Amino acid sequence: MNHADIEALARKWIVEAADRPANPRVQQVVVRLLGDLCKAIEDLDITPTEFWSGVAYLSNAGASNELGLLAAGLGLEHFLDLRADEAESRAGLEGGTPRTIEGPLYVAGAPQSVGFARLDDGSESDRAETLFMQGTVFDQAGRPVPGAKVEVWHANLMGNYSFFDRTQSDFNLRRTIITDHNGRYQFRSIIPVGYGCPPNGSTQQLLNLLGRHGQRPAHIHFFVSAPGHRKLTTQINIEGDAYLWDDFAFATREGLVPPVARVNDPAQLDAKRLDKPFASIDFDFHLGRETAAAPGTEVERARAAA
Ligand SMILES: [Fe+2]
Repeated sequence: MNHADIEALARKWIVEAADRPANPRVQQVVVRLLGDLCKAIEDLDITPTEFWSGVAYLSNAGASNELGLLAAGLGLEHFLDLRADEAESRAGLEGGTPRTIEGPLYVAGAPQSVGFARLDDGSESDRAETLFMQGTVFDQAGRPVPGAKVEVWHANLMGNYSFFDRTQSDFNLRRTIITDHNGRYQFRSIIPVGYGCPPNGSTQQLLNLLGRHGQRPAHIHFFVSAPGHRKLTTQINIEGDAYLWDDFAFATREGLVPPVARVNDPAQLDAKRLDKPFASIDFDFHLGRETAAAPGTEVERARAAA
């Protein structure tokens, strides 16, 4: 069957078959995706057994809530970032802190505080390296933004996220910090380790067939938002991680790998009431001015809420 015949079939099944008002956008997207899928079946001579194996795969991935992870691992979530970058560039928005993927593990409703928060519940303090991370949220003109919302979340020493990992306390390693009158934020936490796809899960199953690992370098997620500014979705990576530039989700970007300082000065340890050295990361966020000339940065997607 040639492509024109396939496109005609897809239109027949979706557009011509409609006998009541349809959502035109859904119709447009489904006709395109269905046609493209049928062309792939034709061109690659996908067998019925292969087809039904794919259906079963997607059913299983959905049942285990791994489709978001799969979107990251196939590069689709990073592709959306690249398109958002291009749209901002066309709108004349340049500079600012680079965006990178949200991933599927944000949870709404984390405790909120002004200026400072401690993220970890102390359960891993004996094995973890204590981290202090701090900086300023700036606007496009380089002025500090007081009252900006810095939402932060990261994994524990097992590479797991609270809520999804029910062995952790509620909102462990998740907080919302409102910047102080100088636009500053700071938090105390632990240096996380990298994330690995569930080894027996759907995402890793496909990655295995593709000859790929499912590892992410250690990272910390952020949403940074303030009225009148474009919401920033990003992460920083912990330098030195073996997977730093080999992320299965393709999310590492220049400008998002700040140096990690090791502090062992007794006076500074005393000031923090710590008895062992700690890690310190300085990182400022630079937000773009909100504009109607580029697509909005508030992305709606199904997210967990504890
Ligand atoms: Fe993550």
